[in-house]
Amino acid sequence: MDYHIDELISEEKVNKRIAELAAQLDRDYAGKELHLIVILKGSVFFACELAKRLTIPVTMDFMAVSSYGDGMVSAGEITVKKELDEDIYDKEVLIVEDILDSGVTLYNLKILLSARAPKSLKIITLLDKKDNHEADVKADYCGFDIPNQFVVGYGLDYAQRHRNLPYVGVVVAD
Ligand code: IMP
Ligand code: MG
Repeated sequence: MDYHIDELISEEKVNKRIAELAAQLDRDYAGKELHLIVILKGSVFFACELAKRLTIPVTMDFMAVSSYGDGMVSAGEITVKKELDEDIYDKEVLIVEDILDSGVTLYNLKILLSARAPKSLKIITLLDKKDNHEADVKADYCGFDIPNQFVVGYGLDYAQRHRNLPYVGVVVAD
């Protein structure tokens, strides 16, 4: 497919919003230690920018799950490709996601992680395609609600490409 990318959310806007989210987390988790679970690979860019701006104590772990292949259609369930290194029992856990689309990934991940008895388990997502949710899952913190379009950049890929774009853009067929 020939395509181009149109800017949807500028780098400046994304960074400003991440600073706001960090300030909110600082308030909500004041006096606590926050354990970030970063969902590879897409959430890495968002997670780093967020973590850098937090002033509360933070620990991080990484997990790889997938519900997508290299295309644009959801496969309906998740596969754990890389397990967490650390136990999350009794921790204040925040799952860091790049995008909430059908919600299938986060719905299944929440069930999986709840069973490990964290003290709390919440979700932060940079982007949310609210109109697309199929699974019963909601983000506790969200950067931007976006329309049902396929986006890339700021960690998000199309067939593994464009993760390194510093802004969020829409993939448009030529
Ligand atoms: P869900 O399970 O349908 O909510 O899909 C979540 C995952 O699908 C995300 O973590 C992304 O990896 C991928 N995804 C969903 N929408 C997009 C998009 O617009 N661009 C790139 N990846 C997407
Ligand atoms: Mg992906």
